[in-house]
Amino acid sequence: MKKILLSGVKPTGRPHIGNYFGAMKQFVELLSSGDYDCHIFIADYHALNLLQNATEMRQNILDLAIDYLAIGLDPHKATLFKQSDVSAHTELAWIFDTLVTMPYLMRAHAYKDAEAKNREINVGTFNYPVLMAADILLYDTDVVPVGQDQKQHVEYARDIAQKFNNTFGNTFKEPEALIIESVATVPGTDGRKMSKSYGNTIPLFASRDEIAKAVMSIVTDSGSDIPANVYAIHKLFKPENELKDTYDANKGKYKVLKDALIEDIDSYISPLREIRSDIASDTEAVRQILIHGAEMARERANGKLNKVKNTIGVA
Ligand code: ADP
Ligand code: TRP
Repeated sequence: MKKILLSGVKPTGRPHIGNYFGAMKQFVELLSSGDYDCHIFIADYHALNLLQNATEMRQNILDLAIDYLAIGLDPHKATLFKQSDVSAHTELAWIFDTLVTMPYLMRAHAYKDAEAKNREINVGTFNYPVLMAADILLYDTDVVPVGQDQKQHVEYARDIAQKFNNTFGNTFKEPEALIIESVATVPGTDGRKMSKSYGNTIPLFASRDEIAKAVMSIVTDSGSDIPANVYAIHKLFKPENELKDTYDANKGKYKVLKDALIEDIDSYISPLREIRSDIASDTEAVRQILIHGAEMARERANGKLNKVKNTIGVA
């Protein structure tokens, strides 16, 4: 029996190398291992908390589907779908809402951060971990490959599974987060966590010019021979034993090291860019993949939801 793997990314803009090394690359590698039954989706209802523009949403969804295919997710082997196409996700989230308490959700990082900034938080954002728990638990997921910032959310999913099981009897499996230590938090060009919201990203499908611009903006005021922020990004693209000679030979020469980094990122990304542009030339085929993926996902999700409805006594 294969283990069940599930993960998603929000269609909130172009994915960056933090998303890729932290999570998306694992999707492809674990799928290729043949050991997992993979469900990879576009978390559009999660994105709706941040993005409330129909044209952009539509475009981002299509773009993310193309990105998934371009990194090598084979739609014949993995189920690729859009969250909003499978209404069981939001339905199960409601059922969980009736079990989860407000104080418990108030302990979530995302909520506490928003509160600390005195931001008025929408109910969808407050409820974010509950929808995410539904995404995960609906498929009897064993493993959830994500970056470090999502660890707490997977723990919420485990807690919610337990709470449901304690209340109604054993129904949900407790999932595990799969986080790879060396890439758990990929740093951005300013040394903080790479994130769309910090404007410190290197886009995964960046053109050579964009790569050069981003690399040149890497903050290098480390005052040491090795520019820490440059090196931290460089080691994603080349094994450290291969980097050693370059960095030894160019101590303090930040420009030379940045040029080498541009070269290495570009040779890594340019084949991906080409594959992406091929896939993007047939958007109808991409749409069909999502339609087919949704059918597969719905079959499984609806089966589970029907059992849950029976368990809670509404069916
Ligand atoms: P972002 O955080 O850029 O808005 P998402 O929330 O859509 O991106 O994240 C998609 C996946 O990428 C998640 O699994 C998340 O943990 C991972 N991820 C995002 N940023 C990083 C990072 N800097 N390092 C490692 N993983 C990351
Ligand atoms: N919250 C995740 C993120 O911001 C996206 C996501 C939504 C997800 N549902 C999920 C990830 C279920 C893994 C499993 O990146």
